[in-house]
Amino acid sequence: MKRIGVLTSGGDAPGMNAATRAVVRTGIYHGLKVMGIGQGYKGLIEGNISEMNLSSVADIIHRGGTKLRTARSEEFKTEVGLKKALNVIKVFGIDGLIVIGGDGSFKGAKELNKKGIKAIGIPGTIDNDLGYTDYSIGFDTAINTVVDAISNIRDTTTSHGRANIVEVMGRNCGDIALYAGLAGGAESIIVPEEDFSSDEVCKKLIQGRNRGKLHSIILLAENMLNSYDLAKEIEYKTGISTRVTILGHIQRGGSPTAFDRIIASKMGARSVELLLEGKSSRVVGLKGNKIIDIEIDEALSTEKKFDKEVYELTKILSI
Ligand code: F6P
Repeated sequence: MKRIGVLTSGGDAPGMNAATRAVVRTGIYHGLKVMGIGQGYKGLIEGNISEMNLSSVADIIHRGGTKLRTARSEEFKTEVGLKKALNVIKVFGIDGLIVIGGDGSFKGAKELNKKGIKAIGIPGTIDNDLGYTDYSIGFDTAINTVVDAISNIRDTTTSHGRANIVEVMGRNCGDIALYAGLAGGAESIIVPEEDFSSDEVCKKLIQGRNRGKLHSIILLAENMLNSYDLAKEIEYKTGISTRVTILGHIQRGGSPTAFDRIIASKMGARSVELLLEGKSSRVVGLKGNKIIDIEIDEALSTEKKFDKEVYELTKILSI
């Protein structure tokens, strides 16, 4: 193993830069040449590749986004796109590839591996929706962003004696809503993993109002229902003025938390070590306090488990 490549792919996540930095510096420490691939698989197909040195990753550990840039490439999913990528890998003499991203990015790594390319994945997505790992880079920063937003929204919600539906990201996973809801003291949390009843949400609002509560935060995971329709329904059923805040891409930006930087640094370094050990077709993850690695296939087929206990706790704490 002499020359490795690193790319970030799919939705960006705070901490991707810290992971890239760790890959580049660990690689150089071990005498490897490290090639930075711009804009994920799109850049791989286009040959958007340059050698990185210690300074290329200076001053990025604290920055959100991804210096390597990212993309969601449809072309790479085709036979033609994959062939182009393989050709570029050959031309640039890349012996091993490190892919930082979510499950779509890991599927790409798996396809390359089937064609003989050594590839290792690092989980980077704010959604925390990968079943094989307790944690994916970016999640902690994202929930802290949501918790900050909830605090601001709560101020104005209290002043006006309103309810506010805060819609958060997560694709099909309720983790952002669940954990930000727990940390932010939300009154109701609506996630795809659990049945939802608007009557229950309204009952809670009425009970809260009857004991003098001046605000209510309803945390709603995206892609479930229309927030504005729900606000209208709540107003109709309770008479409580209800506003909607869709947080959107603000959740994907910002300086990564110390936790994200630490996990990203550990995972970045471990992924290089795996390549040096001759391993391939694996992804790194976090189990408890330990950085682990498993087969990409096994990782992709591990179902994400929703933490029902935490969900029940949020219900108890918001009575
Ligand atoms: O996977 C990360 C994520 O931010 C999801 O939470 C969200 O559904 C999606 O990406 C948004 O994607 P895009 O930035 O392409 O609109």
